[in-house]
Amino acid sequence: MATSSERRIPNDGLEMKDFFPVGRGVGVRGPVAEVNPGERDLGRGATYHIETYGCQMNVADSELVRSILNDRGFSEVQDRDTANILMVNTCSIRDKAERKVLSKLSSFRKQKLRLRKDRRPIVCVLGCMAERLKTKLLEEMLLADVVVGPDAYRDLPRLLSIVRDGDSGAKAYNVQLSLDETYADLRPVRTSGNGVSAFVSIMRGCANMCTYCIVPFTRGRERSRPLESIVDEITGLVEAGYKEVVLLGQNVNSYNDISSGQSNMSMTYAPGFKTVYRPPKSGRTFSDLVDAVCRISKDLRVRYTSPHPKDFPQDLIELYKTHRNLPRHIHLPLQSGSDEILERMRRGYTRKAFLELVMQMRSALPDLALSTDIITGFCGESESDHEDTMRLVKQVEFESAFVFAYSQREKTFAARHLEDDVPHETKIRRLQEIGEAWKDTAFSRNSKRVGTVQRVLVEGKSDLKDGSLTGRSEFNTRAFFHSDPSDPEIRPGQFVNVQVDRATTTTLFGQPVGA
Ligand code: 5AD
Ligand code: SF4
Repeated sequence: MATSSERRIPNDGLEMKDFFPVGRGVGVRGPVAEVNPGERDLGRGATYHIETYGCQMNVADSELVRSILNDRGFSEVQDRDTANILMVNTCSIRDKAERKVLSKLSSFRKQKLRLRKDRRPIVCVLGCMAERLKTKLLEEMLLADVVVGPDAYRDLPRLLSIVRDGDSGAKAYNVQLSLDETYADLRPVRTSGNGVSAFVSIMRGCANMCTYCIVPFTRGRERSRPLESIVDEITGLVEAGYKEVVLLGQNVNSYNDISSGQSNMSMTYAPGFKTVYRPPKSGRTFSDLVDAVCRISKDLRVRYTSPHPKDFPQDLIELYKTHRNLPRHIHLPLQSGSDEILERMRRGYTRKAFLELVMQMRSALPDLALSTDIITGFCGESESDHEDTMRLVKQVEFESAFVFAYSQREKTFAARHLEDDVPHETKIRRLQEIGEAWKDTAFSRNSKRVGTVQRVLVEGKSDLKDGSLTGRSEFNTRAFFHSDPSDPEIRPGQFVNVQVDRATTTTLFGQPVGA
């Protein structure tokens, strides 16, 4: 059995113990090939095709995987029929997401079985489902040959080589989670982006243990990447012409770099959060990082996702006044507007605290646009809990919301201790009602922008047949506009002022009036 050089998660934590029995995280099934893990050309020209499901973090992880594989002599192909290795980067957040991936894996299996044995591609499952299902994917479901969890990507070249060089039927896996892996030294290969906006992963894992959420189990403990490595990477992106970065983390604003240095920030929290929030940590905080990133270039737009409402000190809000790099939009996941449900979700705030934070943000930034995530039909959610959420959604005037029907996830606190007792149809009906509520306010807020001029970062040609261009406003609203006849050369990566002449719930339409 192969072993990993990474530090193991100790078997001491309540949340981890079921998931990482020591010694079962790394292994090979079937005849083991001799592989020198230090060899630079482990890939020997093997081609891989990668498909990514789930959140932005997975998109960023696939960029890391590309970097690791390309560096070891593997090369990427877009056509899956010609690839020696078929990879799927997977998501476990809801049952629906997993079912989508499983159907893709079944289609890979069919594709594989149609071919002669010596021409069959290796199927490799990465990410959250790899972590959750582990060897089940290899042995029971027969859907993969290689299974690699989110903290073990450095081991991919070796595992793929073992299976490639082993006899037919050889399988390998590494699902060991790590306490300190942040892939800080890697340079992600961003082939799938638009060259304008880049995802930059700044921390990994999550320490919150919201009772419905599987993420802490699939992505492990929270750890932050050293600030300097992030600033270096973003400086390189600016030099390469990128105009926007999206800082990524499961709880992005709980970023805390303990590798060196002290925070320059005072960490005063919104009133409602004082009592429920744990004391500030010791290292450099998210505010320090945002401040440092904004200073790299004043032409760089700096966005981030997903923050937790409990991690919004006043300093972070103040930075929006100091740095024009920060667009007037914050994604602020609410999850529920009912105090009882928030408590059952273990979110660490009340509806009053959430509203006070929103008021604090809007008093500093009156035109701020907010978006959110909401779960409908969580365990025990009554009609009056739902009404509380509806009222809060209307009161806050979110400009967009991702609304999800609660999906019970194995091993979470909710799955073990609470009853998934809201009927599916009720979850869907509530989801639709919340959708209508935010769309009403989004339409009225967007309509008020007709006649104004919005600064839009151009991303490229739109999908519309009329040849228009597309980009995003300061409020993160999509904007469509035609090229300026006096400046037919508007290019992706340019900031353009767009005079808005029409608005829908999600989109602004207009004409450029100069850069
Ligand atoms: N069921 C439904 N939605 C969920 N989310 C997280 N876990 C679940 C679950 N078990 C949603 C939350 C989170 C978003 C990324 O996914 O709203 O903010
Ligand atoms: Fe899941 Fe809560 Fe962590 Fe978000 S903050 S990833 S919802 S546990």
